[in-house]
Amino acid sequence: MLCAMDARTAHLIGRRLLAWYGKSARDLPWRHSPTPYGVWVSEVMLQQTVVATVIPYFERWMARFPDVASLASADEREALAAWEGLGYYRRALNLRRAARLAMEGHGGRVPSSQAALLNLPGVGPYIASAIRSLAFGKDEVALDANVARVFLRLLGLRAEAGDATARRAIRGAAEQALPPGRSGDYNQALMDFGSLICRPRRPRCADCFLAEKCEAFRRGLQHDVPQRTAGTLKRIRTVVAVFVTDGRVYVQKRPPGGLFEGMWEFPGGKVQGGETPRRALARECREELGASVTPGRKLAELTHYYTVFEVRLRAFLCPAPPELPEDEAHRWVPLGELDRYPMPSANRRIVAALEAHAQGQGSAPVRRSRRGGGARRTRRRARA
Ligand code: ADE
Repeated sequence: MLCAMDARTAHLIGRRLLAWYGKSARDLPWRHSPTPYGVWVSEVMLQQTVVATVIPYFERWMARFPDVASLASADEREALAAWEGLGYYRRALNLRRAARLAMEGHGGRVPSSQAALLNLPGVGPYIASAIRSLAFGKDEVALDANVARVFLRLLGLRAEAGDATARRAIRGAAEQALPPGRSGDYNQALMDFGSLICRPRRPRCADCFLAEKCEAFRRGLQHDVPQRTAGTLKRIRTVVAVFVTDGRVYVQKRPPGGLFEGMWEFPGGKVQGGETPRRALARECREELGASVTPGRKLAELTHYYTVFEVRLRAFLCPAPPELPEDEAHRWVPLGELDRYPMPSANRRIVAALEAHAQGQGSAPVRRSRRGGGARRTRRRARA
């Protein structure tokens, strides 16, 4: 395994990347006048989502929460609502918690030290280095899966991006190529290069200004680097109950600590082996709500994709039993007010089916399939 890059080649790569970035940098809103807070928000959004999806969310977020103080004083629901559709909602909750910590411990500023940044929830080594280089000018490489792929190819390493030996080689080469004092542009040049030229699939080697320095290209390996881990989608069947009484709909809040923490959803759960969907729903309502429910007609059936799951979800209209609990986490909400309640995308699609049904357009059950949760496009599968 060839693991090193000579210093001359590394410096040449750094210089060419900067020259290319000077001419071809993408015009992205977080680059206009980067502040530590703006860089932080954009990097958190970009960590699992592609640029085109992030742009409108970033603009709305910065208009709504322009600085650490405004985010720290927002309530959880506002933060989740501004994030709705972007997926991986823990990111929004962590950002808000981190903003509060920055108010308490750093006078409302985003800290610049690696240690202080790593103490903030949701900030890992990649985001800390991105903030430090893009916003504070520290000479540091921000190494994510995109950048790792670029250097795996330049080095011609037939390894997975996560392989420990390969990662050391990648970091060594990326640090060697960093032009001192230019880390912000260098890191962003690598991000643009990884998404425009050295793409995960179908790399544009014919247009690449680094091709002659690329070991993978020289050996015709560019399509095999990085090696891909075989990923299989896990299939899950779920059912939910839609209770509607006098134009109000019954929803419950997801508990702290789990997936979709703090978001609202229709009650239900997983279908177990051998169960029919209706039986599964009756069981879930008994176990979770202590309510005896007889599911009625099917309102919607949809398939929803998360990073490693394919979820087949069936929603049934159900007569509401009197014993349904009502408390902080279980509410009857007027149908027209559900948009104030942050919801995972699949549940939002059920609301749309319910609205269509309520307007008399829903005589046939709604059947839809959507990849990636609506506006959200995760990039992990595509990039890693
Ligand atoms: N991906 C991650 N961070 C990015 C940035 N700052 N610009 C473009 N793409 C990115």
